[in-house]
Amino acid sequence: MGGRAQLRRATVDTGGPSQRAPAAEPDAGRQVPPTGPGTGRIVAGYLAPHPPHLIYAENPPQNEPRSTGGWDTLRWGYEELRRRLSAGGRPDVLIIHAPHWITMVGHHVNCVPHPRGLSVEPIFPHLFRYHYDFRTDVELAEAIVEEADAAGLVANAMRDERVRVDYATIGALHLVNPAWDIPVVSLSANNNPYYYSSASLDQMEVLGAATRRAIERSGRRAVLLASNTLSHLHWDVEPELPEDMAAEHPYNHHQYAWDMKLLDAIRSGPTSALRPLIEDHIEATYAETKSGSLTWMLAAMGWPQAPGDVLAYGTVIGTGNAVVEWLPDGEVGRG
Ligand SMILES: [Fe+2]
Repeated sequence: MGGRAQLRRATVDTGGPSQRAPAAEPDAGRQVPPTGPGTGRIVAGYLAPHPPHLIYAENPPQNEPRSTGGWDTLRWGYEELRRRLSAGGRPDVLIIHAPHWITMVGHHVNCVPHPRGLSVEPIFPHLFRYHYDFRTDVELAEAIVEEADAAGLVANAMRDERVRVDYATIGALHLVNPAWDIPVVSLSANNNPYYYSSASLDQMEVLGAATRRAIERSGRRAVLLASNTLSHLHWDVEPELPEDMAAEHPYNHHQYAWDMKLLDAIRSGPTSALRPLIEDHIEATYAETKSGSLTWMLAAMGWPQAPGDVLAYGTVIGTGNAVVEWLPDGEVGRG
């Protein structure tokens, strides 16, 4: 592309209701390891942001555009994530909640056995046109739908092969496992958060606990991925060279300071301190955690006592992005 392209400001999505009835979550806030011997369990959870620029910078063969690199420190964080994933033994499944598979009503789970296609980032098609081809753990996906439904959520098994997998799901999954040799379960982001400030984060706790119960039933060793950026205001003008790092810095100091406030709390632990802080951070920074991915993941893990391990922080077109690892209480670290 030539010249300086006009880019859209931070996206604001709209959507509809998703909850069938108020759902009480009996396990919300429990502080014990979420799985026991001989059952399925969560072995790690990662905050795994998905800026298309990181895929563009990696130059994988599946992505059509070519780059000269850029955003290296964030990509080093993902490199360390991949090392830890490998050192901990291959998980049976990667379960991802991402904000750009937007569903208007309810929480959907991709139950297509073999998703294949082209995923395009609508704002940055010159950076992200990715040919994907992966396998779904359909049995676990269906179990999550069943558990979410039983918990009172509107939940749906998505079985339409024509539905393109969104770039947030594909981007994070590539950065975590570029070999694509681990089955996937992909959850949609219900749009309610964009109508009601924090109400739907309560639903994400219910969805997280339902996900945990499905994992326990399944016998799988699961890694969870919350595909969220932190502070989310960004530039509306792109440099001539998209990966020109001379143009890359926080959108403003306010956004940066709030990201650091959240990361300080993450690094200190326990995660229960994040419950109110995530909402404050959303209000202050338009954070993408409003889609609920991070709350879903930490709730599924039973809100661990242990702090998160921040593997990297960096900005992408001004937005704040962190790669963070959490281990469930009782799980041995691989750092
Ligand atoms: Fe995003």
